[in-house]
Amino acid sequence: MTELPTDLRDDDVIRSLASAQATTWVRRTPAEAALPDLADVMDSAAARFDRFAPWFAETFPETATVPVELASAFPEARGGLIESPLVRAASAQERLDALFGTELSGQLWLKRDDSLPVSGSIKARGGFHEVLEFAEAVAADHGLDAHDPATYSSPQFREIAADHRIVVGSTGNLGLSIGILSARLGFAASVHMSADAREWKKTMLRDHGVDVIEHAGDFVEAVEAGRASAEAAANTHFVDDEDSMSLFAGYSVAALRIRRQFDAAGVTIDEQNPLTVYLPCGIGGGPGGVTFGLKRVFGAAVRCVFVEPSQAPAMFLGVRTGRHSDISVQDIGLSGATAADGLAVARPSRFIGPTIGPLISGFAAVPDEVIRAGVGVLHETEGIDVEPSATAGLTIPWRMGDAAAESPAGVHLVWLTGGAMVPEGERAAYVEEGRGLVERIGDTSAIFVD
Ligand SMILES: Cc1ncc(COP(=O)(O)O)c(C=O)c1O
Repeated sequence: MTELPTDLRDDDVIRSLASAQATTWVRRTPAEAALPDLADVMDSAAARFDRFAPWFAETFPETATVPVELASAFPEARGGLIESPLVRAASAQERLDALFGTELSGQLWLKRDDSLPVSGSIKARGGFHEVLEFAEAVAADHGLDAHDPATYSSPQFREIAADHRIVVGSTGNLGLSIGILSARLGFAASVHMSADAREWKKTMLRDHGVDVIEHAGDFVEAVEAGRASAEAAANTHFVDDEDSMSLFAGYSVAALRIRRQFDAAGVTIDEQNPLTVYLPCGIGGGPGGVTFGLKRVFGAAVRCVFVEPSQAPAMFLGVRTGRHSDISVQDIGLSGATAADGLAVARPSRFIGPTIGPLISGFAAVPDEVIRAGVGVLHETEGIDVEPSATAGLTIPWRMGDAAAESPAGVHLVWLTGGAMVPEGERAAYVEEGRGLVERIGDTSAIFVD
């Protein structure tokens, strides 16, 4: 086992993380940091999605009408809405109560970003936003009406777009969202994929006409290669998952939408009925953007917990040590490898930890077996099939248990982050494997509260 750096050896939390066991750290009274002064990024991203709604409705027929599950929360929407349902999960709650042998106070809900239209993962929120922002900038630069959705279907725009390239490094899902949308707008696109990326994601992108560059190394390497290739290139925009404000803004819009979804469901979120949200975390951008938005919308009534695989707890380690992107999971002897391919990140975002870290109420690391078993539980209880990364947060309400008991009841919202794009054969294999592991989902974990 790798020796821990001397100054980290006395920290029981880091020792537990380094042993790769399930570890939960609850910050009972997180330093109540002021929200970073980024207020209008969320509103302007929401406005951008509204402007593009007619284009989405026309370009992706599956979004042309608003699904019934979303209609009551968004009565004014006319199609082209990129949003996912919010659902109660009483059966999963009952099953997990039985598996953990303890009853959860409050209600388990699920946010179904696994079924987000067009590219089926939370990364679409940020990825789409950055591509749309770039499209508007290109249109404006060429004297076209950037705020008219018809611009983006025009031959003039498509001709200009063909001369521009969008580049990104990805473990898979960000690449899918950026590649699919870029191609539909007429941009050239290059996606640098880490070794963890699933084969079917690469094939799907190539089928959309996207250049896929495969790397034998991890996510950090793929991002580096993408950045380097874009640096000197003309008319090229690099989407930097390690440090992007535009991605962040896109993710944050989920919070404005979710307030309306709770209202439509007749659920009031306030200090008497607080909301705890469990977010799978890779580089930290998705959960970071959502956390910023939720804090702005619900204030002290919401707590956000980031959840990572126990071999890749990059954000947990970065925030706990205060070293953020200056430390990697390999520095404490972990591999960074995980079955949760979307979360296979060894070093966290440069931007999220320092900016959003103080707003995060807890961190958890769970072994791959728990993540994979989650696929089985959701299949058996709710009939929902997701990719493994999506289930990372599923058991954390039970793992936090009494340690979370500042305000025990309320709503526990597990964010399901990906799944709709998974091909049938892979989906069936995830489900079968998960069902075989269900009984082990409640394995013990170390919990620290401070
Ligand atoms: C399914 C899924 N969930 C969660 C995440 C985590 O998002 P982030 O890397 O922005 O923390 C990813 C990232 O690719 C993902 O693919």
